Amino acid sequence: MAETTTAATALPKGFRGAAHGWPELHRIPHPPHRLPLLGDVLGTDRHTPVQDSLRHARRLGPIFRRKVFGKEFVFLWGARLAADIADESRFAKHVGLGIANLRPIAGDGLFTAYNHEPNWQLAHDVLAPGFSREAMAGYHTAMLAVAGQLTDHWDRRLAAGHTVDVPGDMTRLTLETIARTGFGHDFGSFERDRPHPFVAAMVGALSYAQRLNTVPSPLAPLLLRGPSQRNAADLAHLNRTVDDLVRARRASGGGDGDLLDRMLATAHPETGERLSPQNVRRQVITFLVAGHETTSGALSFALHYLSRHPEVAARARAEVDRVWGGSPAPGYAEVARLRQVRRVLDESLRLWPTAPAFAREARQDTVLAGEHPMRRGGWALVLTPMLHRDPEVWGADAERFDPDRFDAKAVRARAPHTFKPFGTGARACIGRQFALHEATLVLGLLLRRYEFGADPGYRLRVTERLTLMPQGLRLRLTRRTPNSAPRCPAHGTNA
Ligand code: HEM
Repeated sequence: MAETTTAATALPKGFRGAAHGWPELHRIPHPPHRLPLLGDVLGTDRHTPVQDSLRHARRLGPIFRRKVFGKEFVFLWGARLAADIADESRFAKHVGLGIANLRPIAGDGLFTAYNHEPNWQLAHDVLAPGFSREAMAGYHTAMLAVAGQLTDHWDRRLAAGHTVDVPGDMTRLTLETIARTGFGHDFGSFERDRPHPFVAAMVGALSYAQRLNTVPSPLAPLLLRGPSQRNAADLAHLNRTVDDLVRARRASGGGDGDLLDRMLATAHPETGERLSPQNVRRQVITFLVAGHETTSGALSFALHYLSRHPEVAARARAEVDRVWGGSPAPGYAEVARLRQVRRVLDESLRLWPTAPAFAREARQDTVLAGEHPMRRGGWALVLTPMLHRDPEVWGADAERFDPDRFDAKAVRARAPHTFKPFGTGARACIGRQFALHEATLVLGLLLRRYEFGADPGYRLRVTERLTLMPQGLRLRLTRRTPNSAPRCPAHGTNA
């Protein structure tokens, strides 16, 4: 049984391996052919840790462990286990290896803060109203304007007889959207052939953080000397970009009440405290990164599935025509009325939740799902793409794309905590409504304007860069009803 630890007992500093948290670890299976020192590395690819874990999950069952270069973690995905670990009274977010390696980028920003850091609660309370319905309605016009830039860009590609680069363009779209709505900043992504230097620095810093997950710590300074110098330059670029942005805002005397205004000027409603300049920098980076990578992946997977399922696309398109008609600029409230489109998005996030895992730790000694003793501080990674494929919840055809799984009746019939693309509990995604509104709006606009032609030779390959993305996805567009879409007043071009 679990050893007793009191709340006063200090937890070991740094990485806590599975042996610390799971007194009956021997009952949790691991892959065969474990190598001394190296661990479960045979047949793994450091570029695809999530997809490797999915393969292991299929063979080893709803809870399993992996050891990589001496570090051992527990993964779980069975619906019963995932539901129990969602219990906030016994478990909380764990800032595990993957997230701790992001701390040089985002410090105690919302996503990477430890639960005990006072800046988490402060920033959460100050920023949460920035995601209220009212605030969301305020972002809608800017979202429409950026979507208009995307369709202008796609119209030009189409006119020139070219295919479109879906992940690249969705990344442009979502970066511009969070930058403009949150910070009144324009990266000019659609005017550039190559990614904006901020994006290049961000990708570099995220890739470096991901490499640290799989390099044995003592060897990191030796193996990663060159990359760590590049990483320092990338971090300096991120910080410079954000500092310039903040300086310009301060000089202008304030914006229109966006996230940056909130970060700079809003005091905590009870304590009157404000975010420090250092923390503002970390929050801006956090929101620019967290606010676009995951949404661009979600949109890209949805477009992939729509191109492969013309019957689903036709149904969703008919809904857009019915609900929006020829409305030049669909209003804020018109977006939530696109039920079919939202189901496509949910089903895409079920199969490929673009933030594919989140970690939970025990607040006290406990027994997970009545079966697995855990010590306080013991933790596990919830492997969301497998939770979303648990046949006991989703049926024997869980791999099949079927948006009807998200019609209201089916959702009501399902057990809670079985669909978790946005994480769980107090540390779940603060930007959920933002992402869903943006993605539903954009899919609606694209469905109304184009037919999506898939390349018959394309096989879905998934790239992993902390978040998931369909690799190399290109679509051939056909304009549905030329000149029928009215002009969008938000940016002066076609909606
Ligand atoms: C489809 C899009 C998105 C997905 C799948 C997603 C997923 C997630 C997940 C799984 C978490 C929890 C991580 C954990 O427990 O460790 C999270 C947290 C977070 N997300 Fe998102 N996210 C999305 C979009 C956004 C957007 C648009 C924003 C900002 C505008 C955002 C900002 C954040 C922040 C700040 C946190 C940390 C919250 C906290 O700990 O208080 N996300 N997200």
